Amino acid sequence: MKKIGILVGSLRKDSFSKQIAANVADLFPEGYETEFIEIGTLPFYNQDDDNEPDTPAEYMAFRNKVKEFDAFLFVTPEYNRSVPAVLSNALDIGSRPYGESVWDGKAAAIISQSPGNIGGFGANHHLRQKLVFLNMPVLQQPEAYISNVSTLLDENGKVSNEETVQFLQAFVDAFIDLIERFHK
Ligand code: FNR
Repeated sequence: MKKIGILVGSLRKDSFSKQIAANVADLFPEGYETEFIEIGTLPFYNQDDDNEPDTPAEYMAFRNKVKEFDAFLFVTPEYNRSVPAVLSNALDIGSRPYGESVWDGKAAAIISQSPGNIGGFGANHHLRQKLVFLNMPVLQQPEAYISNVSTLLDENGKVSNEETVQFLQAFVDAFIDLIERFHK
C-alpha cells in the first residue's frame, strides 16, 4: 500500500481547492491510500526556534507526519500570482533542519485552480520552483491548471463535467507512473 499525502493551499471552509482535491483522491487506484495533511494549524516558521531540544512540537509532529507518505499531491489556489503563504510555510517547516528535509526524493504532483481564466499558473510554477530545490520529482505532463473552477463543481462538490473527470483521471494515472518509477 502506498500512501499519498494531500496538501491544500487554502484554509477556506468551502475551498474549491479542497473540493477538487477530494474529487481527485477518489480517482486513485487500489493499492493507494490518500490522506489530507493538516497545515492550517502550523505556526509561522522561525529559524530561531528550530534548535533541539526546544524545537516546537508542531514542527516535530508535522515532520513526523510527512515521513509517513510516499508521495504528495498539492492542490492550490493562486494568491497574487504566487503560492499561498500557508502552503509555502508548510514546505519550509518540512525542509529544515538543513540536510534533514522530509520532502527529499519524494514524488509530487501539482494541481492549481482558479475561478478565473488563468487557472493558477503563477502559483503552479512558483510551487514547482520550491519543489526543484526540495529535490522532489514533480509530474511534468499533463499539467493541471483548472480555470473557471466554480462552473465545474455541482452543489455536492462533485466535478460534474465528464471531460474534466477524464482529464483528472489521466492526471492521476500519469502520477501513478511517476510514483512507480521513483518508489518501487
Ligand atoms: C486571490 N484570488 C486570485 N485568483 C487568481 O486567479 N489569481 C490570483 O493571483 C489571485 N489572488 C488572490 C489573492 C488573495 C489574497 C485571495 C484571497 C484570493 C482569488 C482566488 O482564486 C479565489 O479566492 C479562490 O476561490 C481561492 O481558492 P479556494 O480558497 O477556493 O481554494
